[in-house]
Amino acid sequence: MTLEDAPEFFSLRSNPEAMKHICKPLQTSLKEAENMILKMDAMIDSNNGINWGICFKDEPAFIGTVSFHRVDKEHYRAEIGYMLKPVHWKKGIISEAVAAIIDHGFDKMKLHSIEAQIDPTNTGSEKTLQKFNFVKEAYYKENYFFDGVFLDTVVYSLLSPCK
Ligand SMILES: CC(C)(COP(=O)(O)OP(=O)(O)OC[C@H]1O[C@@H](n2cnc3c(N)ncnc32)[C@H](O)[C@@H]1OP(=O)(O)O)[C@@H](O)C(=O)NCCC(=O)NCCS
Repeated sequence: MTLEDAPEFFSLRSNPEAMKHICKPLQTSLKEAENMILKMDAMIDSNNGINWGICFKDEPAFIGTVSFHRVDKEHYRAEIGYMLKPVHWKKGIISEAVAAIIDHGFDKMKLHSIEAQIDPTNTGSEKTLQKFNFVKEAYYKENYFFDGVFLDTVVYSLLSPCK
């Protein structure tokens, strides 16, 4: 992603429908979106995470993100994340992006496992993970405090096929 993506990134991160299960404050200014993109760039430089912008092959406009964050180098593990503009949901776009970064994670980054943390009511995300054979490993009760409420978290993970 580049700073040119900031306006579209802002429209995604300020959209209550898209942010419903992300459990982070909605962005309120373009500046916040720009700062987050710069922070993501710094994560690439320090090998702590990678955030890719998603677009159509013939159209450069940003429509979503897919990422590895919280890269735990010592244990060859990283957390996957993804989000897409609601107008493009249920067209298989995140499946295509997730397939690509799972390959990248195991093949290029040499990860041993990929973790996903989701809101238990996020059916779309859960279905996506199950489609890629992620296994449900934990259900944490009220471990995440957001907006005055303690929320539950489900943890899924996928092990590398390379032994
Ligand atoms: C979750 C999200 C990324 C899914 O993206 P998407 O491009 O619509 O996903 P896909 O079209 O590739 O669908 C993947 C699978 O999940 C299923 N699915 C997607 N959304 C669904 C929903 N709301 N309810 C039930 N199943 C759903 C699809 O049917 C598909 O399974 P199939 O191929 O067996 O039919 C998208 O809804 C989103 O951006 N949500 C908001 C952000 C978010 O919650 N991110 C995840 C945080 S953990």
